[in-house]
Amino acid sequence: AGPALAQVPQSVHQSCMICHGQTGENTIYPMVPRLSGQQVQYLAWQLKQFKAHTRADQNAQIYMWPVAQAMSQKEIQSVAKYYAAQSPMHSASSPRPGVSAGKQIFLQGVAAQGVPACMACHAVNATGRGIFPRLAGQRYAYIVQQLTYLHDGNRVNPIMQPVAEKLTNRQMREVAAYLSGL
Ligand code: HEM
Ligand code: HEM
Repeated sequence: AGPALAQVPQSVHQSCMICHGQTGENTIYPMVPRLSGQQVQYLAWQLKQFKAHTRADQNAQIYMWPVAQAMSQKEIQSVAKYYAAQSPMHSASSPRPGVSAGKQIFLQGVAAQGVPACMACHAVNATGRGIFPRLAGQRYAYIVQQLTYLHDGNRVNPIMQPVAEKLTNRQMREVAAYLSGL
């Protein structure tokens, strides 16, 4: 291994990079989240949830349960720190339809449906903070998938579920178009 590879935690080198990429800027798989520049606290919390089987949507079970099972608390912390420290994920595709409607949902919510402004938790530029994930530059199909899981109760979270429950499929695609384009 060269000097650059020496900085990479062994589990990233042996496993995570296959799906998430070495820097977490996954450019291949639509359903695999980008991890680069994600909030360190959020990353560690999700890995603990995969390990404890409390994040139990279908793709979590298939792809992340076997990986997280083998990780110690120390590895979880070091991998979370590593991916959080990479330069932040950003858009890699041309704009999709619905961006301006999605921007409005993100910044203002949808009062008529009782949907709060996403930026209240995910921050105005969608950078996230602490347990609130970064969404800016995340993959389009992954965002739609997670909103659908949360809407249907397949991914359980007391804070985010009530928000996702109120979104229509169309609004999910609009807000994903906006966020994935940042
Ligand atoms: C989700 C970390 C290996 C596929 C995630 C998330 C984290 C993570 C933190 C949640 C991100 C978020 O909520 O935004 C890691 C680490 C790995 C690893 C640290 C190595 C130790 C892998 C591998 C695969 C994979 C090898 C493919 C076989 C996925 C998929 C999801 C995911 C599909 C989304 C799960 C869902 O929809 O609930 N991973 N991962 N990961 N990862 Fe990994
Ligand atoms: C998670 C979108 C509003 C708190 C997420 C995720 C998405 C999302 C796509 C999953 C991210 C990932 O897996 O990487 C949105 C949108 C919103 C919105 C589009 C507005 C319509 C809010 C609000 C709050 C919030 C208002 C706080 C009251 C959270 C939390 C998580 C999360 C805590 C992490 C859930 C977990 O740990 O499993 N959000 N969000 N969100 N969101 Fe939101």
